[in-house]
Amino acid sequence: MTRGDLLKAGRVLAGVVLASLVSGAAEGPAPLDAAHWRKVFARPDHTPMPSDNPATPEKIALGAKLFEDTRLSGAGDMACASCHQADLSFSDGVDRHPGLDGQPLDRRTPSLWNMAWGLSWFWDGRAASLEAQALGPIENKREMAGDVERALRDLGSDPQMRRDFAKAFPEDPAVSAANLVKAIAAFERTLVSPETRFDRWVEGDDKALEPDELAGLALFVGKAGCVACHQGWRFTDDAFHDIGLASADKGRGPILGIAAADHAFKTPSLRERVWSAPYMHDGSLATFEEVVAHYADTIVKRPTLSADLPQGIALSPREREQLVAFLNTLSSEDPPRPASLPAKAMTAGVSADAVAVSIVSQKDRRFSPGAVLLKLGEALRILNDDTRVHNVRVDGPGRSYNSDAQNPGDTVTLGFDRPGRYDVICGIHPDMRLTVNVSAAGAP
Ligand code: HEC
Ligand code: HEC
Repeated sequence: MTRGDLLKAGRVLAGVVLASLVSGAAEGPAPLDAAHWRKVFARPDHTPMPSDNPATPEKIALGAKLFEDTRLSGAGDMACASCHQADLSFSDGVDRHPGLDGQPLDRRTPSLWNMAWGLSWFWDGRAASLEAQALGPIENKREMAGDVERALRDLGSDPQMRRDFAKAFPEDPAVSAANLVKAIAAFERTLVSPETRFDRWVEGDDKALEPDELAGLALFVGKAGCVACHQGWRFTDDAFHDIGLASADKGRGPILGIAAADHAFKTPSLRERVWSAPYMHDGSLATFEEVVAHYADTIVKRPTLSADLPQGIALSPREREQLVAFLNTLSSEDPPRPASLPAKAMTAGVSADAVAVSIVSQKDRRFSPGAVLLKLGEALRILNDDTRVHNVRVDGPGRSYNSDAQNPGDTVTLGFDRPGRYDVICGIHPDMRLTVNVSAAGAP
C-alpha cells in the first residue's frame, strides 16, 4: 500500500466516522431515497396470465358465479366466498375459521388480492398453480367437504350453468373439473388491489403521503428491515420465512422434507391488509400495532429463523406509530370490490307482491332523497351508486335491520309491515341519514 493509498483510506475512514456521527446526531430516520424506492414499488402495467388458461369476460363471469356457488360444498351451504369475503379483503375476519367439525381450521383464511402474481399457493406453498389450488378446499373434509363429481352433476343439471360453461369454453363446453378450476382461477386473477395513496406517491405526488407516513416508509425500507422480505409493489418476495411466531405449525418444512424450512410461511402481500385482520398464518396478531411489536419485541429465537429477519430492532413508540401509519397507506379507504363480482341484491321483509316504488341513491355519502313517504305494502330499494362501501341500518316500529356490507352496485330492498317513522343510516358513514314515513294502506 502506498502512502497515497493510506491517506485515501484514512480519508474514507474519517468520512465514515463523520457520517455516522452526523446521522447519530440527526433526529428521526435516515433520509429516504425517493427516486430509488419509487422505482422499486412501481406497479406493473398488466396482469400475468398462463397461456393454457387465457381469460375471457365469459370465463371470468362464470368463475365469479362459481366462487359464490354453495353447490360446490358437500352440505350445499358453503361457497368459496363464505370464507373469502370480498369486503374483508377476501378473508373472513377471524383468526381461524371454524371447520365443519366445529374446531378452528389449522390456519387463517388468507386474503386473495393479487394472487395472479404468486409463485405458489397456500401458506406453505403446497399448490403450484391457482388452477391446482381450487379443488383443494372443495374436497377438504374440514372445509367444504364437497365431492367434485357430485358437484359437477348438480351444476350440469342446471341449464343456465350449462349455458355459462358453453360460453366460457366454446371449444370444450363440458361442465368438467378442468373447466371449473380454470374459470375460478381466471376470476381470481381479476382480484388486483386498486391504487392507494401510496401509489400516488410512487407516481411522483410528494404530497400524497403525510410526513409520519413517509417516516414510516423510511423505517420500513431502512432500520426496521421490513423490505428484505416485503418487496416490490405487492410487498412480498413470494418466499418462505420463519419470523419467530410462537405457533407450533411447521409450515414449509414438511412440504419440502427439509427441517431448516420448519416454521417458514409464505410472505403475505401487504396490500389491502387493513381489511383482513387478524394477521399471520395463525391469525395470532390482531392489529398492525401487534405485528410491529412482534418484530421489535417477541421474536421466538430458534435455529430456523430467517436470515433476512432483523433481530433486536429498537423502535420507539413514535416509530411504531409511523410504521403503522405507513402500512395503512397500502389499503383503500373503504374495502374495494372488484368489478368482476356480480352485484348483491339484499332484501328484508319484502312480501312477494310488493312493488319497489322508491329508489334511494347513496352517491357521495348521501341518501338521496333524504326522506321518503311510503304506503304499507310498498317497498323501498336503496342502491349503492357510490364508489364506497355502505351498509343499511333501519330502526322503526317493532323492527331493526342491519344489512351486510353493501358494495358499489349492491341493492337493499326493504318492506315495512307497520305504519310509522323509520330511521335509516349507514353503519359505516353514520352521518348518512334517511327518514322513511310509512302510512297505513289506503290512508291519503
Ligand atoms: C372454510 C373456509 C374456506 C373455504 C370455504 C375456502 N377457503 Fe380458500 N383458504 C382457506 C384457508 C384456511 C386457506 C389457507 C390454508 C393453508 O394455507 O393451508 C385458504 C387458502 C386459499 C388460497 C391460497 C391463497 C394464498 O395466499 O396462497 C386460495 C387461492 C383459496 N384459498 C381459494 C379458495 C377457493 C377458490 C375456494 C372455493 C373453491 C376456497 N378457497 C374455499 C379457507 C377457505
Ligand atoms: C424475514 C422476512 C420478513 C421480514 C424482515 C418482515 N416480514 Fe412481515 N411477514 C413475513 C412473513 C413470512 C409473514 C407471514 C408469517 C406467518 O404467518 O407465519 C409476514 C407477515 C406480515 C404481516 C401480516 C400480513 C398478513 O396478511 O397476515 C404484516 C402486516 C407484516 N408482515 C409486516 C411487516 C413489517 C412492518 C416488517 C418490518 C418491521 C416486516 N413485516 C418484516 C416476512 C417478513
